[in-house]
Amino acid sequence: MPGTETLDLQSIVDDIHRELTPRLGEGKVADYIPQLARVDPKRFGMAIVTVEGDVHMAGDAQVPFSIQSISKVFTLTLALGKHGENIWKRVGREPSGSAFNSIVQLEHEHGIPRNPFINAGAIAITDLVLAGHTPKEAIGEVVRFVRYLADEDDIVIDADVARSEAATGYRNFALANFMRSFGKLDHPVDHVLGVYFHQCALAMNCVQLAKAGLFLAASGTNPLTKHSVVSKQRARRINALMLTCGHYDGSGDFAYRVGLPGKSGVGGGILCVAPGKASVAVWSPGLNHNGNSLLGSLALEMLASRTGWSVF
Ligand code: DON
Repeated sequence: MPGTETLDLQSIVDDIHRELTPRLGEGKVADYIPQLARVDPKRFGMAIVTVEGDVHMAGDAQVPFSIQSISKVFTLTLALGKHGENIWKRVGREPSGSAFNSIVQLEHEHGIPRNPFINAGAIAITDLVLAGHTPKEAIGEVVRFVRYLADEDDIVIDADVARSEAATGYRNFALANFMRSFGKLDHPVDHVLGVYFHQCALAMNCVQLAKAGLFLAASGTNPLTKHSVVSKQRARRINALMLTCGHYDGSGDFAYRVGLPGKSGVGGGILCVAPGKASVAVWSPGLNHNGNSLLGSLALEMLASRTGWSVF
């Protein structure tokens, strides 16, 4: 298996970008959040940050985009830090086999969402992050945490995206009210969703995102800042959840094609972890039928095949 030092990663990302350029614009940009529908569908960015600290990028890798559900990795990490394994009383660890915003399973499983990455599960996790805080404080904590992970100060929330989602987030209000009716949320629904919509509206570029995920590729410690974020065991477990649940009902397909832990967002981003090697972020707004970036998934499939980084 080649190590990062024997691979010409810059040529690999350049080749992937060049080969995908004729296909830019494929897939369907998310439009259920009106502000997301305004994004240019032909954007494409990719960044690799290796555990040695080398950065390789192509295309729009330094253009910020809405990370959306990728934020669920960071809030899960925060909630584990605050509550440890107790979080599993509120959320499961199984793939859902349903769409990211599905409500069907919540009723017969008593308001316990299947995993922390579907919307219901992420809302339950945000409720745990909120513990002891006002929504404003919790939003501040999430932003500070992501800046700390990425070692970048200029990461902000796009307030227009947060407002746009709050104005149209009927399905998320339904999910949250349903969970609250089972006594599975401790805070008022509008507080929890206020934080959730803001975390999803974090704007980051591919380089920042890859840096923020680097601790997961390096046994829990960011090798660039030397910050110990989580234990080795916890990093392994977060990666396991990303692999099994990070792409909703497309998780099996992503594991089959890419073979790496990954988390997608409807903004068209994917954060992907190659344990012991690198953290990778890709952005292409057109989505496949599961709500995952179409060309982003393909770019990662090409990367995994050319580097041999699959965990299998
Ligand atoms: O809750 C929502 O609908 C969005 N803020 C996030 C959904 C999302 O990114 C799903 N990922 N593919």
